[in-house]
Amino acid sequence: MTDLSALEAETLAAIAAAGDEPALEAARLAALGKKGAISTLLAGLGKMAPDERKTAGAAINAVKDAVSAALAARKEALKAAALDARLAAETLDVTLPVRETPAETGRIHPISQVMDELTAIFADMGFSIAEGPDVETDDYNFTRLNFPLGHPAREMHDTFFFHPDAKGERKLLRTHTSPVQVRTMLAKQPPIRVICPGRTYRCDSDQTHTPMFHQVEGLVIDKGSHLGHLKWILEEFCKAFFEVEHVKMRFRPSFFPFTEPSAEVDIQCRRSGGEIRFGEGEDWLEILGCGMVHPNVLRLCGVDPDVYQGFAWGMGIDRIAMLKYGMPDLRPFFEADVRWLSHYGFRPLDLPTLAGGLSG
Ligand code: DAH
Repeated sequence: MTDLSALEAETLAAIAAAGDEPALEAARLAALGKKGAISTLLAGLGKMAPDERKTAGAAINAVKDAVSAALAARKEALKAAALDARLAAETLDVTLPVRETPAETGRIHPISQVMDELTAIFADMGFSIAEGPDVETDDYNFTRLNFPLGHPAREMHDTFFFHPDAKGERKLLRTHTSPVQVRTMLAKQPPIRVICPGRTYRCDSDQTHTPMFHQVEGLVIDKGSHLGHLKWILEEFCKAFFEVEHVKMRFRPSFFPFTEPSAEVDIQCRRSGGEIRFGEGEDWLEILGCGMVHPNVLRLCGVDPDVYQGFAWGMGIDRIAMLKYGMPDLRPFFEADVRWLSHYGFRPLDLPTLAGGLSG
């Protein structure tokens, strides 16, 4: 039996010395595996005389129990040690600054921001949004807006024309959002109250002009719509958009083929040190064109001018964005420079609402 005690001592020592799980498993296999020392002893019991087997069996099983208990205890100890090591290695410094998520680092382009702002303001006044394609027909961009063929105003728009198609029709990139007025009147019965924000194109490029830019059109058609309504809407819009209590506006007579009478609207401002303030000052700044929709336009768009009348306006979105947010040059709007965007852009989760504030 001294052999058995030696085996027990040796196995328990191997278990105690096992520094990790694989070493412990090796010790287990050496003792209790199929060909392990204790398993071999147990297998030998069958060949013994019954008396001998009884005492030897009890002794070997006692060793087996002791070894199993030591294995379980060592396993628990190793597990606890591994957990302690992991906790020590994975310490977290909660005083480090929080890393921003993509939703916090991304930026909304000022044009998108201003479009959301306009939409919030006009939606509050009961307007819906109408849209049309960037590639327009000559008919919708000019003819039905009362530009006669060969009229010089067609040239003033610096139009990008496409080559004529198989039917001889020459499409163009819309030069203004006014064709959406045509589409809306052709598709809907009055009363109509829509705004049409979108991209527009003219062959022009300098500090305040880019070949692609943005406009927002407004159109109201009803039986009793008049210039007084237009003035009120534009004034309310300017106050809400520029986030000021008062604005002074000036309507200057002008000409557009699609409105009669037509006007250009200036708002009063003060320029000082490269900054513009609205609602005060002695300067005037032009922000939009407007007028009563010309009876010819109503007729060409299927609206009876003896029953209905209305007004419309068109405003440069890029221009009002530059004015509101103090951007001196239009060209970087479309250069996709992340540095510019992270400076002038808006936080994605600060959605403009009238209740929560437009510009955050
Ligand atoms: N379409 C004009 C432009 O691009 C702007 C405009 C002026 C639109 C008067 C209108 C309007 O609806 O009534 O220059």
